[in-house]
Amino acid sequence: MRLANGQDLESLMKGLFHIRTYGCQMNERDSEAVAAALTAAGYAAADSESEADILLFNTCSVRERAERKALGKIGGLVKLKRKRPEILIGLFGCMAQRLKNELLDKMPHVDFVIGTDRLADLPMVLADAAEKHARIAAVEPSDADSAAALEAMDGRLSPEDAGERPLSAYVAIMRGCNRFCSYCIVPYVRGREKSRNPERIINEAAELAANGVREITLLGQNVAAYGLEGRLAPNPGESPFALLLERLAKIDGLKRIRFISPHPAFFNDRLIDAIASTPKVCGNVHLPLQSGSDKILKAMNRGYTAAEYLAIADKLREKVPEMTFSTDVIVGFPGERESDFQETRTIFNTIEFDNAYIFKYSPRGGTKAAKLADSIPTEVKEERNHILLEDLKQAAVKRNESLVWDRKSPC
Ligand code: 5AD
Ligand code: SF4
Repeated sequence: MRLANGQDLESLMKGLFHIRTYGCQMNERDSEAVAAALTAAGYAAADSESEADILLFNTCSVRERAERKALGKIGGLVKLKRKRPEILIGLFGCMAQRLKNELLDKMPHVDFVIGTDRLADLPMVLADAAEKHARIAAVEPSDADSAAALEAMDGRLSPEDAGERPLSAYVAIMRGCNRFCSYCIVPYVRGREKSRNPERIINEAAELAANGVREITLLGQNVAAYGLEGRLAPNPGESPFALLLERLAKIDGLKRIRFISPHPAFFNDRLIDAIASTPKVCGNVHLPLQSGSDKILKAMNRGYTAAEYLAIADKLREKVPEMTFSTDVIVGFPGERESDFQETRTIFNTIEFDNAYIFKYSPRGGTKAAKLADSIPTEVKEERNHILLEDLKQAAVKRNESLVWDRKSPC
């Protein structure tokens, strides 16, 4: 295509990129910020993977399956790189952070690997890889001020570049995790908790609302730990996250606020009251349960009992009767007996979740739980997974039936 001044548009563009995202909503948000940074640096998004000159993979390492999926896809690009050696292939996200140089060693067709703390350097690393034909691993934490690095990742595509005016948007408010649940790789790959400046978050949300966004979802590995850097639980009556919700709710034009994922240990009365008294905060809370057995919860280092979890749900429902819940559960954690699983099932069916993500335990190297024998056979994990999914379905049928309008009954 030629511009009015006769210049060829293609020659002005540095290249076409395509990002494939694995894993959680934080990764989706990061991919959006990377796309914005690359667009600002003169690259453009390709319409499809096959048209791209730069292939980027935002990876996940929470479970082995997620890693295997990405490794299979990236490994399969050897042929493409042989055919088109000018193509650049780059990896970022949690798996890139976990496996670092190993990825470059094992996959000679990969050009660069960028760690979770170095995402803001991606355009620079990409330019270096292109110009110097170098293979680069930028995985050590940045020398830059960590607050600046945190804010550097808040870029967004303009509606013109995105080709749409979204009604809903993700807003990252904190990153990292200090909880060290025994099964979880996140604290090792995402580092310690860092919260963004509240004014920047409010400004970002206000700008989104001014651009037509009506719903925001606040993101963080442990969103309710916002502003509590370093502490494993808030003091009674204290919740900087509650304050943030209340401030965000004052933004004109914004209609709904959601958040994922809060750890139950941070759900104190202050936060429950804020949710109850702020109608813009959605009446659906994703509250990861993980297990309903106190023995397993302890081995998971979750920091709450099944009764404490239930008490949070009860309090929320007492104050907001229409409140619904979704959750994460891990089945087949080392040592999970049938009776432990039945305890999970009991609490699962007591709460009647609207939605639930049921995961089969997957040992992650370097975590505390990985030192325990992965004692539950795959078939048992699968069976427990299936049982909880069936329970979920039954609860949904019951709920849906209760909503069926009976024409014969008076309104
Ligand atoms: N095995 C299985 N599931 C896991 N999760 C985190 N780590 C593991 C693991 N090692 C699940 C948890 C968490 C969700 C994001 O992923 O349920 O809440
Ligand atoms: Fe992982 Fe636990 Fe932190 Fe969630 S709270 S990210 S499960 S360590």
